[in-house]
Amino acid sequence: MIAPQFATAQAVTVVENKPKQVTLSSRDLSIRFGGHIAVNQVSADFHAGELTVIVGPNGAGKTTYFNLLSGQLMASTGQIRLGEHDITQLGAAARTQMGIGRGFQLTNLFPHLSVLENVRLAAQSRANKGFRLFSIWSDHAELIERAEACLQQVSLYHRRHEQTAILSHGDKRKLEVALMLALEPDILMFDEPTAGMSVDEVPVIINLIQAIKQDQQKTVLLVEHKMDVVRSLADRIIVLQDGCLVADGDPSAVMASDAVQQAYLGKRPNVITTREHDHA
Ligand SMILES: Nc1ncnc2c1ncn2[C@@H]1O[C@H](COP(=O)(O)OP(=O)(O)OP(=O)(O)O)[C@@H](O)[C@H]1O
Ligand SMILES: [Mg+2]
Repeated sequence: MIAPQFATAQAVTVVENKPKQVTLSSRDLSIRFGGHIAVNQVSADFHAGELTVIVGPNGAGKTTYFNLLSGQLMASTGQIRLGEHDITQLGAAARTQMGIGRGFQLTNLFPHLSVLENVRLAAQSRANKGFRLFSIWSDHAELIERAEACLQQVSLYHRRHEQTAILSHGDKRKLEVALMLALEPDILMFDEPTAGMSVDEVPVIINLIQAIKQDQQKTVLLVEHKMDVVRSLADRIIVLQDGCLVADGDPSAVMASDAVQQAYLGKRPNVITTREHDHA
């Protein structure tokens, strides 16, 4: 059962909750944009060694919830905890330093630098060497090695010396993932990581996430619309609808639950594969 302190006034279908180490959690988390409550009292625990997929119709509040957890947006009310720490008031940079990795937006890339340089900078910020005036060669070589390993993981190594600006959309999305890997986060958040990728590019990312989730120290959160991807990766699914968490638990049970059936207007849950961009 869900821990009592996380119970909310909403009708939440808790199908299953395994006793695992809670790493990241939100409690009664809400954000209001004018008169619109985009995330409405969402309480959820995320666990080490578990991959949670967040599903829900377009506009349900999934990205906004991610933005609240990662610090891109500040909550109107509620609390976010990372381990023992209340991080509700911390900004995105502080949360990154504490181990929350959020897929970078394309705008965070330095377009005129090479692919490798972009990842090396992320590795450098992880190593906390950004303010050192002098860096010995071995440090530099280590960072390059680390950056190259990240590029290999996303199948971009062969493009490492190219200028970032000329990469295709799919390759830029892979680069975003490489930047996140370079930060070596404990919590990895992917928001539709394969959106806009060609069909043959998708397995690289899926296999990578599959590999990451084998690490029992990592907590993985994934927003995904493609139901085949959801089925292949999810240890657990939570469902958002109109900003509210309406289901949380074991994938097969959640997908079959009344809450999910209702969330998709009485249709089969795979209605969420009908996003416009999936047909692009
Ligand atoms: N900065 C903002 N200002 C005003 N409204 C916002 C803002 N960000 C999000 N919203 C609104 O909050 C709601 C939730 O949006 P959000 O992008 O989180 O949905 P989503 O579940 O990620 O949808 P999608 O599946 O289409 O990506 C929407 O109604 C959206 O218009
Ligand atoms: Mg979204």
